Amino acid sequence: MPKIKKNIVDIKTSATLAINELSHKLEKKGKEIFRFGLGQSPFPVPQIIVEELIKNAQQKNYINVSGLFELREQVAKYHSIKNRNNYSPENVIIGPGSKELIFQTQLVLDCDVLLPCPSWVSYEPQAQILNKKIHWIETDATSNWHITPEALDKVCNNIFKAEKLLILNSPNNPSGTSHYNLEALALIAKKNNIIVLSDEIYAELDFSGQYKSISHYYPEGTIISSGLSKWCGAGGWRIGSIIFPKELKNIKDLVRSVASETYTAVSAPIQYAAIKAYSEDHTQFLIKSRKILETIANYIHQTLTEIGIKCQKPQGGFYMLCDFSNVIKKSNKISDGQSLCSKILEDIGFAMLPGSDFGIQKESLITRIAFVDFDGSKAINYINNKEFLSEDFLEYSCPKIIKGITKLKKWIETNN
Ligand SMILES: Cc1ncc(COP(=O)(O)O)c(C=O)c1O
Repeated sequence: MPKIKKNIVDIKTSATLAINELSHKLEKKGKEIFRFGLGQSPFPVPQIIVEELIKNAQQKNYINVSGLFELREQVAKYHSIKNRNNYSPENVIIGPGSKELIFQTQLVLDCDVLLPCPSWVSYEPQAQILNKKIHWIETDATSNWHITPEALDKVCNNIFKAEKLLILNSPNNPSGTSHYNLEALALIAKKNNIIVLSDEIYAELDFSGQYKSISHYYPEGTIISSGLSKWCGAGGWRIGSIIFPKELKNIKDLVRSVASETYTAVSAPIQYAAIKAYSEDHTQFLIKSRKILETIANYIHQTLTEIGIKCQKPQGGFYMLCDFSNVIKKSNKISDGQSLCSKILEDIGFAMLPGSDFGIQKESLITRIAFVDFDGSKAINYINNKEFLSEDFLEYSCPKIIKGITKLKKWIETNN
């Protein structure tokens, strides 16, 4: 057997992608699967952007490594307004998904990585691949699964590495909650000389429609990653962006150099189409998307809370954490979050992920569900011209959400 690097040998296929592949396999065998595992946007890419992609299919040349200038111009303009700062195209790099850009940034920095626990599945393996020291910062349901300034300060007291990279994500995957204490966190980050990577991939799906970013309070030390995968339904297009403040130009220049030696540039037609994503007004599409997601989130939150599962009401995106410890007694068959998820998948075809995939203790019975198993186009068509969404919206547009949650509820009641 060829020798493999020690820090890489245990890296598995990303948990969310693995649950998707397993769900496909079970479906092929004829089992009905309720897809609450992978967080893929159910909404269509807006037609105007699709048409732009078709129009640009002939764009065949390599593009500037940083990305098409006109696209970077639009991205800078968009974030200058949304993040209430001043960015220019020189601050922006376009990459094949924000995941890759987060990885490249970690790669360039000689730093320890600070991660809230729980955090999105890929931050930790990325840091592991790069042989970085990871410092977890505990959170819990009482702080809505977000780190407090006190906890951040405390963790810094035990870090001796000069460079520290903190990755924040709001609205959050896996908890669905939004940060509320950004100004106070920014002060602690400044005090401890921390570079913040603010992962804003769900920003447009904050149900309030008023996303807040730490970059506003700490512009000189915040790198922002975002893209079209979530609000624009274009995960498979593989395009994302990252913005470095001018104070961190040296990191940006090196990310660009590494990009030039690895992926070269994002596919040209996709970049041309993405200009429309940033330059056109998508307000109505977004208002509808948020309304649909919030209605589903409230339905699930209410149903699961009624049967004793502890969960926080999501404030954005399409995820929530569910704590089964009040309703499931541990046994030989269900001893931790992973075995709970496997048993439920096997019994009723309900796919979700254990909290341990996000850094939560293995023994806990906390899981993450993604409420995306519905037809986004059908849901958007239904709510055109409707003021509010009634019960029949869910029955008509999201039958698998209702069926899946009802099955889960019955399973809990019979296994309790
Ligand atoms: C929190 C978070 N960040 C980043 C990403 C990566 O998005 P992409 O690489 O498609 O831009 C995801 C995707 O699931 C995510 O949930």
